[in-house]
Amino acid sequence: MASVMLRILLLLVTLPLSARAQTNGNLTLGSSLTADDRNSCWLSPSGEFAVGFRKMGQGAHLLAIWFEKIEEKTIVWSANGDNLAPEGSKIQLTADGRLVLADPIGRQLWSPRSIGTPVMYAAMLDMGNFVLVGQNYINLWETFSQPTDTMLPTQQLDQGTKVHARYSETNYSAGRFHFKLRNDGNLAFYATPNPWDASDAYWVSKTSGSGFRLIFNQSGQVYLTARNGTVLKLITSDTVLTSGFYQRAILEYDGVLRHYVHPKLANSSSGLAKGWSMVSSPVPPNICHSITQTVGSGACGFNSYCALGDDQRPRCHCPPGYTLLDSTNEMNGCRQDFVPQSCDGSRLETDQFALHEMLHTDWPMYDYERIAAQTEDSCRQGCLADCFCAVAFWGRSGTCWKKKIPLSNGRMDLTDVGKALIKVRINNSTSKSTGNGNKNSTLIIIGSVLLSSSVFVNLLLLLITYLIYRSFRSRDSKLSRPVQINQAIGMQTFTYQELQEATYQFKEELGRGAFGTVYKGVLRSEYINFVAVKLLATRTGESEKEFEREVIAIGQTNHKNLVQLLGYCNEGQHRLLVYELMSNGTLADFLFGASRPSWYRRIEIACDVARGLSYLHDDCTRHIIHCDIKPQNILLDGSLTSKISDFGLAKLLMANQTRTTTGVRGTIGYLAPEWFRNMPISSKIDVYSFGILLVELICCRKNYKPESEIEAQIVLVDWAYDCYHDGNILKLVESDDEASSDIKRVGRFVMTALWCIQEDPSLRPTTKKITQMLEGAVEVPVPPVSSSFISSV
Ligand SMILES: *[C@@H]1O[C@H](CO)[C@@H](O)[C@H](O)[C@H]1NC(C)=O
Ligand SMILES: *[C@@H]1O[C@H](CO)[C@@H](O)[C@H](O)[C@H]1NC(C)=O
Ligand SMILES: *[C@@H]1O[C@H](CO)[C@@H](O)[C@H](O)[C@H]1NC(C)=O
Ligand SMILES: *[C@@H]1O[C@H](CO)[C@@H](O)[C@H](O)[C@H]1NC(C)=O
Ligand SMILES: *[C@@H]1O[C@H](CO)[C@@H](O)[C@H](O)[C@H]1NC(C)=O
Ligand SMILES: *[C@@H]1O[C@H](CO)[C@@H](O)[C@H](O)[C@H]1NC(C)=O
Ligand SMILES: *[C@@H]1O[C@H](CO)[C@@H](O)[C@H](O)[C@H]1NC(C)=O
Repeated sequence: MASVMLRILLLLVTLPLSARAQTNGNLTLGSSLTADDRNSCWLSPSGEFAVGFRKMGQGAHLLAIWFEKIEEKTIVWSANGDNLAPEGSKIQLTADGRLVLADPIGRQLWSPRSIGTPVMYAAMLDMGNFVLVGQNYINLWETFSQPTDTMLPTQQLDQGTKVHARYSETNYSAGRFHFKLRNDGNLAFYATPNPWDASDAYWVSKTSGSGFRLIFNQSGQVYLTARNGTVLKLITSDTVLTSGFYQRAILEYDGVLRHYVHPKLANSSSGLAKGWSMVSSPVPPNICHSITQTVGSGACGFNSYCALGDDQRPRCHCPPGYTLLDSTNEMNGCRQDFVPQSCDGSRLETDQFALHEMLHTDWPMYDYERIAAQTEDSCRQGCLADCFCAVAFWGRSGTCWKKKIPLSNGRMDLTDVGKALIKVRINNSTSKSTGNGNKNSTLIIIGSVLLSSSVFVNLLLLLITYLIYRSFRSRDSKLSRPVQINQAIGMQTFTYQELQEATYQFKEELGRGAFGTVYKGVLRSEYINFVAVKLLATRTGESEKEFEREVIAIGQTNHKNLVQLLGYCNEGQHRLLVYELMSNGTLADFLFGASRPSWYRRIEIACDVARGLSYLHDDCTRHIIHCDIKPQNILLDGSLTSKISDFGLAKLLMANQTRTTTGVRGTIGYLAPEWFRNMPISSKIDVYSFGILLVELICCRKNYKPESEIEAQIVLVDWAYDCYHDGNILKLVESDDEASSDIKRVGRFVMTALWCIQEDPSLRPTTKKITQMLEGAVEVPVPPVSSSFISSV
């Protein structure tokens, strides 16, 4: 201990080289270093490598190994990049033979994974390897077999070893890029933290069955050998250098493995520039083009594109109309800097958007539709008229591909023939008023009455509600004819004038959807006073008889988890539907609002929606496919029972339109893949949408959250899959005590959701089966790996 302190003092007072060269590399039990401003460290015998603390910013320290004799002090290994050590932390070789990094109050921050027997001494060796040595001088643990992002000469990696790129140039926490010498003998590079499949790799050594060891030999070649020592493949270098250089091979934060050399003497006559210079070609040579699998966002983040800079390094850029999510990290992707096109059929806003042209740019992996366009102009029109289309790619041979948000794996390269047409809102200043605003203010007020904890606010709002109610009551005396439910069809017919009066000239708008606008109304009836009147977007080409037949069919469906249709009006151009009023608004407001509904409430909602769907699909006389299951279409009544609304309307209002020419029904994010392909539509599309809704219910967040800091969490279902795959479902509900303590059910729900979002519709369970899965009545089998839900927003 004293000798270490003396050494540190020596380091501080004496000028570098001479003092450090004398340092002995062996550390006895009890030795320790403290994280403070002095960059204290233990040196290798030659003084070329040091292990110790490096300051990373405000009182945060990294336990690391670095090249000590060069100006850059380049770090080659680190222990706690994910969990930096506060000022005053200590790394100690304890008296009982363990190496422990602990914070100032003694809590362990890091320690090598269990090594069994006690350590006798530790040593920083001259090759850059820090070792823990046990009895009989056996190396119990060494940094060379636990690499972070760098390999050094003489280092060898065995099968199963993983090398992780760091998060960014200066942030040493693990990034998403990594490579692994797989047990099948391949060295494989991956761009996502949890690849599901060997084929997700963006670079593979193609040494399947024989690759056994990755070696960085002393003269500077990195190569893969077979078990018998035969060289199978050179990975980085074809030039052998003399001993006058330091060398390192690093998987950099951009996902590229590069081999660097640095002259050992400051003014070496080698002709190489001062500092580190790259030798050999990087692996892969052009990462912008290498990632070809449909997992994750590509070389750059979502909605951005990758292009090689003049220095042949990949750079990430945002397309026009998009800005960086995190201005300090260009690899974190971009977000739209405008309000996206409305998917509300009645206001497509086609004239509000323009297409920016970008030559040689493409997002090749996520086309959702190919349209037969004869000319570039028809390709442009096709994208402008489709609210899901964020970018169209126009190829030379008359192909037009539509792409939706989030865009992934974008790249710009002169070898890409064709151009991207980026859809951008023309006049952003008006965007607020044209966006899909929240119009159902009364519902929100009433909802917040129930949710709010302030008694005063409650009373005030109750008073307001009462006054509104009073004013409606005084008005409804005008409605002369008392409502009578027609028992034969179970529904009432209304005249347009009656509904005009009931809604007080369509004064109070509750909401607006793809099928029309909903107004609040009051009827004089024995049973029901408040109603929601839906004014359908007018359409032609359908006879009165057909309309009535459909409406009566909808009216005949009766289930406690469906919003009841009470009556309708069919008078010339006027088509209106009258529903019971749901006083607690939409599930979207309830779920994504300020206060999170309890886990048990969410369980009930999930089961309610599943039961409602099961009734629509299987039990009612006409099997109804909803086509637009999403939280905005689930309403909550006064006792917070959830009910599905708008069922039957997809058929009623869009019967004759084909889905490819009108854009797709339903809502972005909840759409099953078959919408975008020429596949038959079945009730399984509702199952898919329900799967997305279920994950949202579990986590209380929207499926697509572009502002999420961690890329793997931007698309919720992808993240849910990752957590499930890692056996760490708890992570999904970490901040939710109720759900965390009911983790078995959370697991069952997640598995059910993963079944629902299978790419192949026939694999998805029926809604009847789903209710059983949710209720625990049947065992939920292990869901298969599917790529359908990757970035399926
Ligand atoms: C460290 O200890 C080992 C074993 O006792 C010894 O062989 C080696 O020379 C020591 N190294 C130094 C630099 O003293
Ligand atoms: C490094 O990046 C991670 C992931 O975004 C972040 O959580 C962490 O705070 C960053 N660390 C530093 C020191 O900036
Ligand atoms: C070593 O192993 C490789 C691959 O398994 C094989 O192709 C080669 O013939 C072997 N060489 C010798 C000398 O055994
Ligand atoms: C490893 O180093 C030696 C020199 O020590 C060199 O001759 C050899 O070509 C290097 N590479 C391989 C793949 O063995
Ligand atoms: C730098 O180069 C000069 C001349 O080539 C030589 O005299 C000097 O010793 C060198 N310095 C170092 C630190 O090697
Ligand atoms: C466009 O409008 C959105 C939303 O109002 C805003 O966040 C964004 O900064 C605007 N973009 C530009 C380029 O003005
Ligand atoms: C953009 O919006 C502003 C404010 O609403 C309006 O005054 C202006 O005319 C619009 N410009 C175009 C080109 O539509």
